[in-house]
Amino acid sequence: MNVDTTTSAEELRHAMVDKIVEEHQWRGLPLRADVERALRKVPRELFVPGVSVEEAYADTAVITKRENNMNLSSVSAPNAIADMLNQAHGQHILEIGSGGYNAALLREIAGPNGSVTTVDIDEDVTDRARACLDAAGYTDVKVVCADAEFAIEPGRRYDLIIVTVGAWDVPPAWVSQLTDDGTLVVPLRTLGLTRSWALKRSGDRLISRSNLMAGFVPMRGAGAHKGRSVVLGDGVNLWLTEPDQHVDEGLEGVFSQERHEAPSGVIVSSGRQSPDLDLWLASHLPGFAALIAQQSAIDSGLVVPSWQYGTPALTRGATLAYQGRLRQVAEAEYEYVAYAHGPEAAWAAEAMAEEIRAWDQASRPAPVLHVVPGDTPDADLPEGRVVNKKHSRIIFTDPTK
Ligand SMILES: C[S@@+](CC[C@H](N)C(=O)[O-])C[C@H]1O[C@@H](n2cnc3c(N)ncnc32)[C@H](O)[C@@H]1O
Repeated sequence: MNVDTTTSAEELRHAMVDKIVEEHQWRGLPLRADVERALRKVPRELFVPGVSVEEAYADTAVITKRENNMNLSSVSAPNAIADMLNQAHGQHILEIGSGGYNAALLREIAGPNGSVTTVDIDEDVTDRARACLDAAGYTDVKVVCADAEFAIEPGRRYDLIIVTVGAWDVPPAWVSQLTDDGTLVVPLRTLGLTRSWALKRSGDRLISRSNLMAGFVPMRGAGAHKGRSVVLGDGVNLWLTEPDQHVDEGLEGVFSQERHEAPSGVIVSSGRQSPDLDLWLASHLPGFAALIAQQSAIDSGLVVPSWQYGTPALTRGATLAYQGRLRQVAEAEYEYVAYAHGPEAAWAAEAMAEEIRAWDQASRPAPVLHVVPGDTPDADLPEGRVVNKKHSRIIFTDPTK
């Protein structure tokens, strides 16, 4: 690499990090100093050979493996990585899903006495990560090829496990590989909503400390899980990720029926809707499901969702209600609104608006997630909405109760 390229890579890196820092500040989630330092230091261009230095610092994911139109592996976007790194500290760290770049950041954060192991199910990916880490001087990061559903280095425990692939469940090995007060950061899909949860171990349980919006390629191997899609209209589906989620027949074409609107009266000043409201609705509304819309269905006005990739929705019989896009009601005031179609549309829109008001009246809490072993009896569960996975039971609890 010649001197000019090095200088411009450094300049581009600092410019990218400046933006990430600013954006975190704006969201009220200031970036930790050690995370910022690592982002400023690790040369991302060495982890995405084959793309231009401008692309390396465009703050987007670089897809490194695709099959049958599916993204199987990528070097994640720095902004998304920064979010997760900001969620937890650790000195002895296991990263699940290897691109090389995040492992290098983690190596910086772990400090001189720390350690980083990164694991990927795919040998092409681990070979690539090993080569990039070596080229960038991170030779002491351990790279393992294995299915991370199972324990990686038997007998070893980590104070931080950071999962960089979309998971549907928390397998027992993730809990048992944590130190007694260790933290698992995992993008977990529940009821169609994916959040990066920071979960602290407490005995055989995990309890959340924070959650953030997240999106990752799905897990492969023994922990792979497929949801079901229910078509509502051209480019609009409900995505059912839990086996016991159910919708009735007769919803296809529901948008051809008149749209009812129910304003909630709940205002947000920033124009940024709260992801905590989605989780509240998921855990409080009977018949909850996440609605996914293609851009074409939004552009045509068929559907006006709050968020394209997982809008809170509910169904009852052949009726659908969903959370609409925030509606501007004054200069800096935006209102949450519910829309519904179908035979019981007026009731359904109002039911959703009422639940939005309930969340507001409860002071807009973020739920606390508990993850307990799958064989935990009902009597030993905290109060809340229970979602049963293959290995674990997941409970959304209300911190205000
Ligand atoms: C988004 S990429 C990881 C990005 C990476 N952390 C980085 O530095 O940007 C997700 C990776 O998870 C891997 N993966 C999927 N299922 C897995 C499993 N069961 N065990 C280990 N790795 C898995 C994929 O092969 C893919 O490379």
